[in-house]
Amino acid sequence: MLRIAVQTKGRLFEETMELLTEAGIKLSTGKRSLLVPSKSFPAEVLFLRDDDIPQAVADGVTDAGIVGENEYTEKKQKVNLVKRLGFSKCRLSLAIPKEEEYHSLNWFCGKKIATSYPSILEDFLKKNAIKADIHVINGSVEIAPSIGLADAIFDIVSSGSTLISNHLREIEVVMQSEALLIGNTNLSREKKEILNEVLFRIYAVQTAEDKKYILLNAPNEKLHEIFDILPGMKSPTVLPLAQEGWSSIHSVISEKRFWEIIGKLKSAGAEGILVIPIEKMIL
Ligand code: PRP
Ligand code: ZN
Repeated sequence: MLRIAVQTKGRLFEETMELLTEAGIKLSTGKRSLLVPSKSFPAEVLFLRDDDIPQAVADGVTDAGIVGENEYTEKKQKVNLVKRLGFSKCRLSLAIPKEEEYHSLNWFCGKKIATSYPSILEDFLKKNAIKADIHVINGSVEIAPSIGLADAIFDIVSSGSTLISNHLREIEVVMQSEALLIGNTNLSREKKEILNEVLFRIYAVQTAEDKKYILLNAPNEKLHEIFDILPGMKSPTVLPLAQEGWSSIHSVISEKRFWEIIGKLKSAGAEGILVIPIEKMIL
């Protein structure tokens, strides 16, 4: 049994639960408690505040956890970074009242900065030889300048709308952040095996995410031209159609190049093009 810590609510929660479900780690429904076993996989999910996840993983209260890189970096706990998950992307930035004139980091000398990430901020200021006063607040950091609690803030920025509605301007990006899968450094052999299975499933889900399965019909003399357009996995599958001189081609294409590829296929004489989402992909 592998215990995985997940944020109770907040920016990571929904996408984390979606990823686990797609990886076949479905939770027993019913009353929502702190610790919920999976009904389909030898794992249980422990719901925690994101701030508490790095330490819970380091101490072995949980075997693994899905947490923002912001908390992972801030807490400096001894854990394994198992995999970058690529979702919940945001950045940690310095922001100042929007009417302030700003030329360089020297603006911050002697200023008071409100944040929930004192350790990351301290390292950044030290690296840039800026002496400023760090004021730690948990939550609603962005209102600190307007109520006279601080001159500036250092906080998470995603869409930037929180900054705008608080008349603040982002002036330095200190670090980028995304969701991470972290693990305890001392897992038993059994738990490592389960974690590897989780990883394998996450890869399968994420590889399929930007891919589409494509089927089309084409005259045989056009097949080579069409193969050149389709950047499939290995080589496309070709099946003869009942209609003499025609074949059906099956392949996998990337979502990003979708419209470009479809356009080229049509001009190469492809017909009856069918595009289907892929749920999982094992390479
Ligand atoms: C962060 C941050 C801002 C907001 C920024 O809070 O503290 O309030 O997100 O996002 P935006 O640029 O899209 O407006 P979060 O929701 O992560 O909660 P937490 O800091 O309490 O964990
Ligand atoms: Zn938090």
